[in-house]
Amino acid sequence: MRLIRIVFAGVLCLILSVNLTNAQKPIYLDVNQPIEKRVDQALSLMTLEEKVAMCHAQSKFSSKGVPRLGIPEVWMDDGPHGIREEVYWDKWSGAGWTNDSCTAFPALTCLAASFNSQMAFNYGTIIGEEARYRNKNVLLGPGVNIYRTPLNGRNFEYMGEDPYLSSRMVVPYVQGVQQNSVAVCVKHFALNNQETNRMGVNVMVSDRALNEIYLPAFKAAVTEGKAWSIMGAYNQLRGQHCCHNDLLLNKILKGEWKFDGVVISDWGGVHSTDEAVTNGLDLEMGTSTNGLTTDGTAPYSEYYLANPFLRGLKSGKYAETAVNEKVRRILRLIFRTTMSANRPFGKFVSPEHSETARKIAENGIVLLKNDKQLLPLLVGKYQKIAVIGENSTRSLVIGGGSSSLKVAYEVSPLEGFLKKYGKEHILYSKGYMSNDNDNKKINPTSQYSDSLLSAAVEVAKKADVVLFVGGLNKNFLQDSEGDDRKTMDLPYNQDKLIAELVKVNKNFTVILCSGNAVSMPWLSDVKAIVQGWYLGSEAGNALANVISGEVNPSGKLPFTFPKKLEDNAAISFGKTSYPGVNDNEEYKEDILVGYRWFDTKKITPLFPFGFGLSYTTFEYGKIATDKKEYTADETIKVSFTLKNTGKTDGSESVQVYASQLKATLYRPAKELKAFKKIFLKVGETQTIEMQIAAKDLAFYNDKTQKWTLESGEYVLRNAASSADIKSSISIQIN
Ligand code: GLC
Repeated sequence: MRLIRIVFAGVLCLILSVNLTNAQKPIYLDVNQPIEKRVDQALSLMTLEEKVAMCHAQSKFSSKGVPRLGIPEVWMDDGPHGIREEVYWDKWSGAGWTNDSCTAFPALTCLAASFNSQMAFNYGTIIGEEARYRNKNVLLGPGVNIYRTPLNGRNFEYMGEDPYLSSRMVVPYVQGVQQNSVAVCVKHFALNNQETNRMGVNVMVSDRALNEIYLPAFKAAVTEGKAWSIMGAYNQLRGQHCCHNDLLLNKILKGEWKFDGVVISDWGGVHSTDEAVTNGLDLEMGTSTNGLTTDGTAPYSEYYLANPFLRGLKSGKYAETAVNEKVRRILRLIFRTTMSANRPFGKFVSPEHSETARKIAENGIVLLKNDKQLLPLLVGKYQKIAVIGENSTRSLVIGGGSSSLKVAYEVSPLEGFLKKYGKEHILYSKGYMSNDNDNKKINPTSQYSDSLLSAAVEVAKKADVVLFVGGLNKNFLQDSEGDDRKTMDLPYNQDKLIAELVKVNKNFTVILCSGNAVSMPWLSDVKAIVQGWYLGSEAGNALANVISGEVNPSGKLPFTFPKKLEDNAAISFGKTSYPGVNDNEEYKEDILVGYRWFDTKKITPLFPFGFGLSYTTFEYGKIATDKKEYTADETIKVSFTLKNTGKTDGSESVQVYASQLKATLYRPAKELKAFKKIFLKVGETQTIEMQIAAKDLAFYNDKTQKWTLESGEYVLRNAASSADIKSSISIQIN
């Protein structure tokens, strides 16, 4: 009997204790409960003040949680290619921490140039690990604004001129990041295609161009990548600021795309309480700053979504549902990140991160010219290799605005070449000099640059071959946030320097470190040209591997290099088209952006979209499809052979472009609809198979506001670039 009593008492205590802890532990704290239940319960326990406090910044890069309920703050950090150092609570400048020097990954133009979605997933994975390690809920990237002109200061942060390429590359990046319980913040939504007057410019663009060109990458990131947050852009669209734009945020993002994440403003992008409350903004950051230097004047309590919002809620001007809708999304973000069940530990500056960063860099470097097979410069082949140009030693991860990084290390091109070839075979000369930052208008005095030039010429004379490492840099008015370049020309007299150098040494390679197209008056005088991007911490190792032939280059251009600036679509329509007149700007080129313009207007570019050479050669077979006719819901299976007909193994990014022959609305000559990167050993042939959903051949009909796939004849072309068509086949859509 006694035993039974003891057992009964034990069981009773067990039941009570379980119930008690359940009663004690609110379900929103229970990481194994469904997120929506956790959101509902946390919301029901919050006061009005706590809800409003959650909707705006409390510091430069954080917003409030609810300490009383054990809900942590939300911490965000830049940027798309590395985790920015910790800054002061309320200042842009670095706080001097000793444990936040990150790995710098290649800028996103380089990732796009890899034409390799697997690289994008790997990229998201490792940058997500670094953000997780630094305990950030939100990574303020990736940027997917379309490359509309070669002058935009921030093109280097984005993925080029084609909406299909950007869409296919952004989805795996988002998935890679968010598997770390870190939210991406896809930016800048939308039409932020320039830095000039970025806070004021009011973009007028057709519904067709909006839907066919500027929204697809954002739509893919949200509907396929399931992005957990998105950043409103500084500019206006049709007279309403993008950070509180009814069309973009309510109708398209949250309506059509069913986005369930958080809309975060760009820093200083909010200008109205009424619009912020009703037009879809959830979290206001950086008010009264310019997102770069000004530290702002508005105290956090006076942000548009702070006291003004609270007063409006209390007076009944705003219904409480307005704040609940915002807080619900922010709670969801918190439960997906800092309070998620399976939050990994992250990693910071690990060997794997360096290895992956270098592979992405090697995959993105583009060989633009290689006359007489000057490259690769095999180790041991030349006694004296001259490395000339400031970008061979200058840090290219510092500067450029919010994407500037404090790095654990950065291998410069010169260091990479010294390691690869041995210092006894390397000569070096600075060649040209930029300013430390072009905010100051000083330019190096002419005799100083003459002496640099003549010293470089002397070095070039003594060398067997010359590696010129130049391009742009992250200075203001170069590849930098805050304003655009004023010309497509190389800065700091590099053209003159190159002209003088090739006079004394014909074995000349130009390596361009840049995120934008540049003019090349020396194009026919040099034997080789390499588009080297901004490659981050592993820059020197990646470049040395490609230049030496250890790695066969396989990158292809994600944007067109025009022969002259006026050949660019937006520029050709004058000031109202770019950069705008009296704040108003009209995208007059409409859907003809990038190669769409050059193809349709039959303008020959300097280097076309999708172009890139290899140290080997490839032969394309004739394109074939599995059927002749398709209905809208079917998938077109495309196939063709590819053979490595050269002397080294290598990878090739094949492309398929589609054209509609007789559309009721005008369409570009052709549009990229599939790409794939294939590795082939010497002599190897593979049959490549790709799929194109018939519905993806549709155009956006702005009369019916619907994507429209018309019956009729379409032509599919396989290509090595937008200007190098290998074969074509016509199909019928019914
Ligand atoms: C900047 C940029 C944005 C960045 C933010 C925080 O102005 O526009 O990309 O993430 O402010 O630095």
